[in-house]
Amino acid sequence: MNVLATARRQAARGARMVRTALHAGSGLARRKGGQRSRQAAPIDGGPLLRLSGVVKRYAIGPVETEVLRGVDLDVGAGGLLSIMGESGSGKSTLLNIMGLLDRPTAGSIQVAGRNVSAMSDDELSDTRNQSIGFVFQAFRLLPRLTALENVALPLTYQGIDGVEARERAQGMLRKVAMGNRSDHRPDQLSGGQQQRVAIARALVASPALVLADEPTGALDPNTGREIMQLFRELNESDGIAVVIITHDRAVARQCAENVDLVDGRITAAGGVAPASASPETAEGAGE
Ligand SMILES: Nc1ncnc2c1ncn2[C@@H]1O[C@H](COP(=O)(O)OP(=O)(O)OP(=O)(O)O)[C@@H](O)[C@H]1O
Ligand SMILES: [Mg+2]
Repeated sequence: MNVLATARRQAARGARMVRTALHAGSGLARRKGGQRSRQAAPIDGGPLLRLSGVVKRYAIGPVETEVLRGVDLDVGAGGLLSIMGESGSGKSTLLNIMGLLDRPTAGSIQVAGRNVSAMSDDELSDTRNQSIGFVFQAFRLLPRLTALENVALPLTYQGIDGVEARERAQGMLRKVAMGNRSDHRPDQLSGGQQQRVAIARALVASPALVLADEPTGALDPNTGREIMQLFRELNESDGIAVVIITHDRAVARQCAENVDLVDGRITAAGGVAPASASPETAEGAGE
């Protein structure tokens, strides 16, 4: 009938296959019985996501490169965290591991207190798909679907009715100022417009955690500010935890926490003054 209906039938037949084809874009969730639920609640106030001693090595022929060398990082429920680091320092590698799209060579990952290494591939993809929205560095929109259909897909896979899915997708497209481009396919959109559609897709299903890889990188300053405002609103009003990889200090400054990825490890951010920093706090320290 239409592409969404076809995608939904495909989801019912083999959701895992479909999601793999989508590179697990944007928190695509298949709810048994079409149930919507709040995902990945933290256990006993612990972090939503905990990385401990995460190592990632890549081997190309005889040459082995250790990109991550023992990353320790917590993302609290409702946190807003920026990660900065030089090009090639491993930020996207780290984000893929945080999003359960890739397994580390060593170290452990816990999601809401559950150890990921103990999960089967099915459990892993269910956890990922029910809890995490991705904004990929290269957008990864499906080329044959319109903007509206791309954004509606995560809802469709949650069993949300086609009309409702379309209305919610259209509403999210309006939020990223793309309401007038909903019938365009990705190749009919500029890079910045595709990025906004990818952001709408990541947010439409209100995941517990959004992982965004340079989400403002292809946007003009004004649109970038609006997108950051949107992330902050969702973070503050809906309690969605947001992790943003960025090269832009102005973006990092808007996040509650800032870290750097240096030499394969997480360090406290250098050069990003926290918004709340004030001379008095330094004076009063040392109790
Ligand atoms: N699949 C892979 N196989 C081999 N090496 C890889 C693979 N993916 C990434 N790398 C290497 O890991 C390092 C980190 O790559 P990554 O994409 O994580 O960097 P980044 O910090 O996101 O950079 P940028 O800011 O340019 O996006 C690079 O040296 C890259 O060559
Ligand atoms: Mg990258």
